[in-house]
Amino acid sequence: MGSLGKDAAAAGERVVLAVNGVRREAAGVDPSTTLLEFLRTRTPVRGPKLGCGEGGCGACVVLISKYDPTTDEVTEFSASSCLTLVGSLNHCSVTTSEGIGNTRDGYHPVQQRLAGFHASQCGFCTPGMCMSIFSALVKADKPGAAGEPAPPPGFSKLTSCEAEHAVSGNLCRCTGYRPIVDACKSFAADVDLEDLGLNSFWKKGADRAEVGKLPEYSSGAVCTFPEFLKSEIKASVDNQTNNVPAAIAGEDGWYHPRSIQELHSLFDSNWFDEKSVKIVASNTGAGVYKDQDLYEKYIDIKGIPELSVINRSNKGVEIGAAVSISKAIEVFSDGTPVFRKIAGHLSKVASPFVRNTATVGGNVIMSQRLQFPSDIATVLLAAGSTVTIQTASKMLCLTLEEFLEQPPCDAKTILLSIFVPDWGSDNVIFETSRAAPRPFGNAVSYVNSAFLARTSGDAASGELIVDEICLAFGAYGVGHASRARKVEEFLKGKSVSASVILEAVRLLKDVISPSEGTTHPEYRVSLAVSFLFSFLSSLATDLDEPAKAITPNGISTNGTMNGNGASSLEKQSKVGSDDLPIRSRQELVFTEEYKPVGKPTTKAGAELQASGEAVYVDDIPSPKDCLYGAFIYSTHPHAHIKGVNFKSSLASKKVITVISAKDIPAGGRNIGSSFPGLGDEALFGDPVSEFAGQNIGVVIAETQKYAYMAAKQAVIEYSTENLEPPILTIEDAIQHDSYFHPPPFLAPKPIGDFEQGMSEADHKILSGEVKLESQYYFYMETQTALAVPDEDNCITIYASTQIPEVTQNVVADCLGIPYHNVRIITRRVGGGFGGKAMKGCHVACACAVAAFKLRRPVRMYLDRKTDMIMAGGRHPMKVKYSVGFKSDGTLTALHLDLGINAGISPDVSPALPSAIVGALKKYNWGALALDVKVCKTNVSSKSAMRGPGDVQGCFIAEAIIEHVASALAADTNTVRRKNLHGFESLTKFYGDAAGEASTYSLVEIFDKLASSPEYRTRAAAVERFNGGSRWKKRGISCVPITYEVRLRPTPGKVSIMNDGSIAVEVGGVEIGQGLYTKVKQMTAYGLAELCSDADGLLDKVRVIQADTLSMIQGGFTGGSTTSETSCEAVRLSCATLVERLKPIKESLESKSGAPAPWKALITQATMASVNLSAQAYWTPDPAFVKYINYGAAVSEVEIDVLTGGTTILRSDLVYDCGQSLNPAVDLGQVEGAFVQGVGFFTNEEYTTNADGLVVNDGTWTYKIPTVDTIPKQLNVELLTSARDKKRVLSSKASGEPPLLMAASVHCAMREAIRAARKDFSASSPLTFQMDVPATMADVKELCGLDVVERHLQSLSSAAAET
Ligand SMILES: Cc1cc2nc3c(=O)[nH]c(=O)nc-3n(C[C@H](O)[C@H](O)[C@H](O)COP(=O)(O)OP(=O)(O)OC[C@H]3O[C@@H](n4cnc5c(N)ncnc54)[C@H](O)[C@@H]3O)c2cc1C
Ligand code: FES
Ligand code: FES
Repeated sequence: MGSLGKDAAAAGERVVLAVNGVRREAAGVDPSTTLLEFLRTRTPVRGPKLGCGEGGCGACVVLISKYDPTTDEVTEFSASSCLTLVGSLNHCSVTTSEGIGNTRDGYHPVQQRLAGFHASQCGFCTPGMCMSIFSALVKADKPGAAGEPAPPPGFSKLTSCEAEHAVSGNLCRCTGYRPIVDACKSFAADVDLEDLGLNSFWKKGADRAEVGKLPEYSSGAVCTFPEFLKSEIKASVDNQTNNVPAAIAGEDGWYHPRSIQELHSLFDSNWFDEKSVKIVASNTGAGVYKDQDLYEKYIDIKGIPELSVINRSNKGVEIGAAVSISKAIEVFSDGTPVFRKIAGHLSKVASPFVRNTATVGGNVIMSQRLQFPSDIATVLLAAGSTVTIQTASKMLCLTLEEFLEQPPCDAKTILLSIFVPDWGSDNVIFETSRAAPRPFGNAVSYVNSAFLARTSGDAASGELIVDEICLAFGAYGVGHASRARKVEEFLKGKSVSASVILEAVRLLKDVISPSEGTTHPEYRVSLAVSFLFSFLSSLATDLDEPAKAITPNGISTNGTMNGNGASSLEKQSKVGSDDLPIRSRQELVFTEEYKPVGKPTTKAGAELQASGEAVYVDDIPSPKDCLYGAFIYSTHPHAHIKGVNFKSSLASKKVITVISAKDIPAGGRNIGSSFPGLGDEALFGDPVSEFAGQNIGVVIAETQKYAYMAAKQAVIEYSTENLEPPILTIEDAIQHDSYFHPPPFLAPKPIGDFEQGMSEADHKILSGEVKLESQYYFYMETQTALAVPDEDNCITIYASTQIPEVTQNVVADCLGIPYHNVRIITRRVGGGFGGKAMKGCHVACACAVAAFKLRRPVRMYLDRKTDMIMAGGRHPMKVKYSVGFKSDGTLTALHLDLGINAGISPDVSPALPSAIVGALKKYNWGALALDVKVCKTNVSSKSAMRGPGDVQGCFIAEAIIEHVASALAADTNTVRRKNLHGFESLTKFYGDAAGEASTYSLVEIFDKLASSPEYRTRAAAVERFNGGSRWKKRGISCVPITYEVRLRPTPGKVSIMNDGSIAVEVGGVEIGQGLYTKVKQMTAYGLAELCSDADGLLDKVRVIQADTLSMIQGGFTGGSTTSETSCEAVRLSCATLVERLKPIKESLESKSGAPAPWKALITQATMASVNLSAQAYWTPDPAFVKYINYGAAVSEVEIDVLTGGTTILRSDLVYDCGQSLNPAVDLGQVEGAFVQGVGFFTNEEYTTNADGLVVNDGTWTYKIPTVDTIPKQLNVELLTSARDKKRVLSSKASGEPPLLMAASVHCAMREAIRAARKDFSASSPLTFQMDVPATMADVKELCGLDVVERHLQSLSSAAAET
């Protein structure tokens, strides 16, 4: 063909699609444009959010609908709009959250129920959640076969189990998922509504839970495919039959070949160039292997009919390469057992919204070509699949094994289809397994496996003989899935016994050899061994495990291994502990005393957040001439920056300019953040980069995507000449005396006489050690700001920040302009957790410098990777301790040697030691001595993250207590209880913060939980369970917490408009913590004297955005007390207004003899020229600036000794919330913080390379909790403790302290591991160091990587003896 015919190119159509029923043309967009970019930049739609850009978070989920004109049918499915390319969506309809309901047309019941179940906090994840739930409802309620029973009125056909899975791919960092699951389950026909948690539809415990009280749901109420598009499609079909070429090519850079021939002529044309043309099926591969450059042209192969075949015959099933994983699951589910097992495994690949588009062929090709750790290749390999491929010259049929083993195929080789033979059901056993941190999927596995065996019975012995066997393993750090041939050969013809398995395991260990650089290599090998052992045991007649290990309550214990793991086919029906439904209970007290304060009012703006209309910084339309920035960061920890060049690439052409330190205006300085009183951090690493991840410049481009891509092209020239080697670790820092010195007022004080305490001890531990790693914030909205230059050297910055005031000051210092020239506006923040403080400042400053220089608006929205690399996060630390104690467990003295890795700048680090010690002091240590080192190192500076220091302090205390208990062989809870403070020692340890004796509730809380008969019963049940179960072990533990908080001065302002509506401003920022909701309630309460209807007043209040020029001295949002102090400032403002308005009210009432209506009162006041705006700057009573929060949690976990997986079976939290200002908000804070803490203690691996550069830098490697990893039962009680008028309406803080309670999970895991160590080796010490986080790999390692071999060895020896 030579060149592609001009006619064909010219004949191309534009991509036409419907977005929420409106016709849109994707004309003139860059061909690499994703649906998300298109929606957010070319339409008014803002519901789908960018959370990760790699298919791993669900913030961007939309519903895509396709119409088949021949059958007149519409098919709908959810999809991640961040990976779907708009060029592939011709004639599709897209529905977003605002498309199913909005402010104007009314909200959809999904949105109303998410709001009513208090399931939205910062709200950034909520539109994505909403669309995942909506898609699940659409799928469940598709008209089914005739005669299928309809669900009860008001319900969907969705089941509770499907409801939990519906959001399994969506991340939420705020809520802890429980309320989201409840909202989703409220649609399920099989749910008992009484089981659902706190909501605004019925009063739990008082009213009956009835479907009629829920916002009404009826399926099909939303039109997902508009009629106009159907007509257009029908017309285009008619045109096609009139021989108009169907291919779209040319202008838009897209080509949709309709046949293999067309594809080949395209390959042969001079249009094709491998470097600039991308061949795609559904483009989800871009979530795994990020595009490194822009592409000019795309070939979409999905339109080639051979790639979409689905052929079933009695020989097997052939599926086209472009068939989606979801479709393949549907096809395989309806087949013989091997097919059903394949379907089961596939349903754990990625998440529903990725599987709906991701193709089977794309996955297999990625595995073949790029060594992708595929699940699909492994299971298809074991099932004996074959593939048909089309190379440039011929069509070939190969076994999948042959195909995988070939050298990586070239770009012109197309996988056409895959054939999976039908194995029938006789004498065939097929099992698949995967070990991953998330049981429902959405996490690539450490190892996956699939085994197929054909057996026959030996008539004489009655044993099963292995006739044929295929053992496939993948993802363990090798090129692609492969068969363990040596092991297969060995097993063929044998009957399986312990000694045979042992030999097979030995052989397997030679085969499974992770390549260099693979993380946790020994763990992966041990997993492969576990999988093989489990499978082979099911073939052995004389082995009673592990498949047959059934827990006392009838639950199969083989949870993580594909839900049914090692068990044989008939055991499929048993429920694994991963599949237990999520249950919950809440005990809350609502008080009327200060109403509407104290009521569980629904979060202000929750429905708006669910519909996607709530405006975050990136939702603000770009001003005219706006430019976009992306950071270039250093990958060297200590080097001169000699220069920055750009690779020769398409993306490099998009660079408009690079902003660097030299662009800081004269009079300004290189400052990116500053912690008042503690120190600054530079904006740019100039002239030396001081840590890997430091910003050294900002690439400016016309779009955010161009800026991201252009920044990737930067090549930095470094020189280390005359520079000291970097200091990266605590040990390095100690060696080089590299410290920050906390000012004396921040340094924690020793207590008592350590030497004397030690001398009173009966026992001493002199060299205990524990280590805690960092944690990344993982707010769903990454750092972002929009800077708009204004007249006369002024600038307005819309920033996602928790510290507008500091940001204003730092930006002004950086630009060298007065503070009044800088206005920072923050309406809401899509999650902060401390991370939108110091680091957020850098982004605002970078935008400001660029905007000032270029005299154009500049915005930045960091991609997830850059955000993770720069964020810093929680402080890692290393602790050594010496502790003295008596034989009865009473502690007498503790010495702590604390090493904290603070990173390059002081940030909040000097304040960390006192926070650590603050939480550690929950126990009476007798005497306390400290040696604290805040280490200055060449890594990104660590900052405050929810519960900074306190969470580590709480854990360190527990680690020491457990060590003591273990040394005494005593019950840990008894040691805990013995050392809880009496009020006297509390005062000794905490001084004034201890408050009144009546407010010390910790002992009561601990006794309620840990000394109750229920606890004893459960502990006994755990022991019984462990006695009867070898491969699953349980642990239970109760952890108390104390958390000191400080009250800070805070401003508030209340303004009543002429129509009676009320605008309120506070210094604090709404970061999802419910600040604005509490402030609204307080305003209504504060003005209640003026209006008989306080609830009515609530609707008139709007809390408006933070604005540094409107409300000065805003301070910062953090430390858990911003809500209560903002409320207090507002209450004072209201009191002023009441004073001004009361005489008018009385005068009106005396004239009319009736209560004065609110509106009339305000009208009268306006006419009388009363100042209707009042402001207050609340400052705490110097005698009461601190108080302590108390709580405790019991957690019960089950660990899988074979995989290291942990299931949290139940957590019971009791938290003293004082008199809650809003129990629904506080409950949300408690649950959300707890689950964030669970992530810290169990799964979130913050890995860096040898230079300190963060390498777990995306959703692919960094695993925050998901719906399948939260406690299966989560019970929360908010304790209403004694009043204390010194606190704001007797309330207490709830934002951070509950995070500490997650230590209970870690402690319970230790108990379970101890039980395993007891079983497996008498020689394993029962006292052991268990650091944070305790990941799957750590758990398995602590249980023993060789438990299987040891067990088999003992069985074989026993057999040999008999
Ligand atoms: C968040 C996330 C989680 C995931 N989790 C898992 C997991 O747990 N386990 C697992 O196994 N997989 C997982 N995957 C991988 C997923 O299965 C693949 O991304 C997907 O199947 C690729 O299909 P696609 O149609 O999107 O391919 P594309 O992205 O369109 O293509 C990928 C590559 O294959 C080429 N290609 C595609 N089809 C063909 C064909 N027929 N012939 C020749 N070349 C072709 C393309 O040119 C491209 O180079 C995950 C993916 C994501 C994004
Ligand atoms: S932004 Fe698309 S899945 Fe995260
Ligand atoms: S509410 Fe889910 S991420 Fe904030």
